[in-house]
Amino acid sequence: MTEPIRTFKILGDERGSLVALETGKEIPFDIKRVYYIFDTQQGVARGFHAHKELQQILVSVSGSCKVSLDNGKGSREVYELNSPDKGLYIGPGSWREMFDFSPDCVLMVIASMLYEEDDYIRDYSRFVEYVNNGKDSI
Ligand code: TYD
Repeated sequence: MTEPIRTFKILGDERGSLVALETGKEIPFDIKRVYYIFDTQQGVARGFHAHKELQQILVSVSGSCKVSLDNGKGSREVYELNSPDKGLYIGPGSWREMFDFSPDCVLMVIASMLYEEDDYIRDYSRFVEYVNNGKDSI
């Protein structure tokens, strides 16, 4: 498995820092959509779904949060995003939960597809079925 945490190059000079993300370089897919999650209330957890096709890179451009990724086959890993030069790649078939948002967290999500509700799997047992028994099982 490829390491899901990516470290981006910081292009800095005496004025400060800058990170550039380009399709085909830091982002391994064509970028179709960018959105960001902010002002998340204390104690709130988000996500609780997987995608059939969507690929994403998550970057906490301010503050921090945690993301757990579950492959539906017994592996669950928690990643902390706490720096604008760190990105988490999430491919298809990965159940994600985001939690422990700091009040100043701005979580930017770079996505490979436009918003499409049909691409979501929002039921955990259907997700486990999907990754273990194939696309036609749900
Ligand atoms: P959802 O993907 O469930 O968010 P999270 O994973 O953070 O819990 O989306 C929450 C709501 O926002 C849902 O009603 C769909 C809507 N939405 C859009 O309209 N466009 C988008 O690009 C996204 C990501 C969500």
